[in-house]
Amino acid sequence: MSDTGPETNTKSVFIKTYGCQMNVYDSERMKDVLAPIGYAPTDSPEGADLVVLNTCHIREKATEKVYSELGKIKKMKHAQGGKMTIAVAGCVAQAEGAEIMRRQPAVDLVLGPQAYHKLPEMIARVHRSTGERLETEFETLEKFDALPKTRQADGPMAFLSVQEGCDKFCTFCVVPYTRGAELSRPVDDITLEARNLASQGVREIQLLGQNVNAYHGAAPVIEAGDEWTLAQLVRHLSKIGGFDRIRYTTSHPRDMDDDLIAAHADTPELMPFLHLPVQSGSNNILKAMNRGHTREHYLDIMRRMKEARPDMALASDFIVGFPGESDKDFEDTMDLVREVGYAIAYSFKYSERPGTPAAEMFGQVPEDVKNERLQALQALLREQQTAFNASKIGETVPVLVTGTGRNEGQMHGRSPWLQAVHFDGAPDLVGQIIDVEIVGSSLNSLSGTLPSGANEAAA
Ligand code: 5AD
Ligand code: SF4
Repeated sequence: MSDTGPETNTKSVFIKTYGCQMNVYDSERMKDVLAPIGYAPTDSPEGADLVVLNTCHIREKATEKVYSELGKIKKMKHAQGGKMTIAVAGCVAQAEGAEIMRRQPAVDLVLGPQAYHKLPEMIARVHRSTGERLETEFETLEKFDALPKTRQADGPMAFLSVQEGCDKFCTFCVVPYTRGAELSRPVDDITLEARNLASQGVREIQLLGQNVNAYHGAAPVIEAGDEWTLAQLVRHLSKIGGFDRIRYTTSHPRDMDDDLIAAHADTPELMPFLHLPVQSGSNNILKAMNRGHTREHYLDIMRRMKEARPDMALASDFIVGFPGESDKDFEDTMDLVREVGYAIAYSFKYSERPGTPAAEMFGQVPEDVKNERLQALQALLREQQTAFNASKIGETVPVLVTGTGRNEGQMHGRSPWLQAVHFDGAPDLVGQIIDVEIVGSSLNSLSGTLPSGANEAAA
């Protein structure tokens, strides 16, 4: 097998993605750097020439999953007579580095989130059996500069990474250690990538960043000013043509400025959905978490968002059982949930992460108490999510059609509030935004019908 120069598509790569949307984006970009050296994506690790696990370190469970998957993949590598290159990428790679190769010697290379552009060079080194097989330096802008300028869009919705890293240092969180300090991409770079996506028929973009509303990227070279905020970036992208829908995730309450709230009122392309994690409803716990905001500040943002856009769907993340969390603290969280009323929320038991300040704190909460609290919180959140979805029954909502369902004639798409919508329609509707009358709902999706006449017109 040759390592240099352009090659034909004779090799296959399987990429498994864990964790957040940033990882989903990174996996897509890894496919983009691998294509020119002859790797085509495949759906199964079995028989693949290259297997990449793009990993997540956020909770202990996520990390353990990676090692158990590596055990399975090692067996496949043996069955293929060793003809498989195994790469571990992402945040476990960043946090554990060479330890991964010690724990699982079948792993050939380890690369952190800032090193994806070096993947072809690292594969070449493995094949030549020379040089370093570990890359975990922080060079975020170098990564973005070195990635191919064009990318292959996969359907009418796409992620676009605009900011990476975090320096908030919440006491429970590994992200500042695995993803590095906050860094924003220049507006011109983002515009280039956005135009390329739009030209491929992408109608909805989701701007990504660990702290996306802390965005402060270099202003376009032809414009005045040094840096632009996320609100400025959103308004700009709404005007470049092609995008009917813009979203951004994930935000931090500390960085929520008035202009971004105003953008929800004045930019119709900006979708009525806000994922703003609060983590806890107790001021004591928020302080111990080093969140840098109070319960009152958070509730005020949520209220103003609803004022700017009355149909705004609100989302959050929660952690239960943070060290020192009392029954009263947990009740404050339940109470906040009742006050806000969420469309969707993600909740987790606190997981002790080595090297983070909270892991050393007194008052670690017993597992059974964490379990009880998680169950109570999730029951309440499920109730709210079910009610939110049901509130759309009887409405006609614009749906971006994203694909065909399992059975013939079944289609699926997304509502403005990020709900999955199923309905019967023609396959050529994919990529269009069409009106769907909502007739049913469940915890996780809506079902609808096309208003009479629409189906025939499109078919
Ligand atoms: N334990 C449990 N949940 C965590 N999260 C981050 N770190 C931890 C941890 N140590 C959750 C937070 C964050 C989401 C991505 O993961 O809720 O918003
Ligand atoms: Fe982690 Fe806090 Fe940064 Fe979010 S804001 S990534 S929870 S440190």
